[in-house]
Amino acid sequence: MEVTVKIFRYNPEKDQRGNYVTYKIEADPNDRVLDVLEHIKGKEDGTLSFRRSCAHGVCGSDAMRINGRNMLACKTLVRDVGANITVEPLLGLKVAKDLIVDMGPFFDNYKKMLPYLINDNPIPADGKERLQSPEQRARFDESTKCILCAACTTSCPSFWANDEYYGPAALVTAHRFIFDSRDEGADQRLHVISETNGSVRCHTAYNCTEACPRDIHITQAIGEIKLAMVTGKLE
Ligand code: SF4
Ligand code: FES
Repeated sequence: MEVTVKIFRYNPEKDQRGNYVTYKIEADPNDRVLDVLEHIKGKEDGTLSFRRSCAHGVCGSDAMRINGRNMLACKTLVRDVGANITVEPLLGLKVAKDLIVDMGPFFDNYKKMLPYLINDNPIPADGKERLQSPEQRARFDESTKCILCAACTTSCPSFWANDEYYGPAALVTAHRFIFDSRDEGADQRLHVISETNGSVRCHTAYNCTEACPRDIHITQAIGEIKLAMVTGKLE
């Protein structure tokens, strides 16, 4: 099938502002949008810039707006988006070049959530792991699936309005550790989240949940964090 692909192009070294360039190529309906971009870069214009690594929905590096919605290019089939495809960078983060955005502020917010196990107690004398029941592990299983693609944060109207908001991805990271029975840093994380740019900025728009390529129930996770802040309960 013939596919018309309109791509946002911007080179800060040459352009005052971005513009759209349209390419017409042959594609198979089962091709992914990432294949289309690779084809254009390989055959039409080698200067086209975008991020990708795993090409299989694991690394989170190729989130972009495809026909107005945040998606992973490697998980989006041509047949699902049609013969007219518009590809743009994520909203709310500075464009570095074409479809590449500066992920620095996104990862700064991730780091604020202390994304590592906090437990200063000595490990058991028998040298075994800190034990956890299947039920305790299941409590935070969903939030372990995050691949840090930023599709959620950059689809959030609260983040668009105030880019100081830590954003849903950071809160999912916090959720992953706050509800881990082996971790003892919940108070520190809840303190960070209770700041002005924390969970209070979430207005349950659900855009994040819709955008997540891992089907994480993000809005629910944020709700659980808010509840923990009020009740102090971590179950
Ligand atoms: Fe991406 Fe989902 Fe993680 Fe947000 S929660 S960064 S959308 S994987
Ligand atoms: Fe890794 Fe798409 S290239 S998630």
